[in-house]
Amino acid sequence: MVTDAERQLVLEQLEACPLTGRALRSVAVRILYQDLKGYNWVGVYRLEGKELVLDEFCGAPTDHTHIPVGRGVCGTAVAEDSNQVVRDVRELENYLACSLETRSEIVVLIRGEGQILGQIDVDGHEVGQFDVSDERMLEAVAARLARDWE
Ligand code: SME
Repeated sequence: MVTDAERQLVLEQLEACPLTGRALRSVAVRILYQDLKGYNWVGVYRLEGKELVLDEFCGAPTDHTHIPVGRGVCGTAVAEDSNQVVRDVRELENYLACSLETRSEIVVLIRGEGQILGQIDVDGHEVGQFDVSDERMLEAVAARLARDWE
């Protein structure tokens, strides 16, 4: 759950950021990771053909740098063309573990010119960490990233 004040802080920083492409994505994941409580891993994946490729991230390194569409929470988001909010990852069968501490996960698609460009993936250590307030904020972040995607 993010408050209106937190949401505003994140979006104002990104609107003011003059960077583009990967440099902008690097700033975005750092802001989310540092400024929001419970955002324990934050990454951007790019969709390249039938595969998601890890781009910028903050948090522990992950083995899942290349994820086929349809696999895990990330691949499911693309396959179903919809954001994913997972209350407790232990209840999922189609899940790729990044860290044993992860309990909840949110994936928000990044869309541009009618197609999926990639996604923002966030892991949290608490069950039920993410709700619609996180989804709406991450959609706004995704729109900012899509504007200067490169
Ligand atoms: N948990 C994701 C994999 C990515 S890691 O969390 C960084 C999934 O199930 O797709």
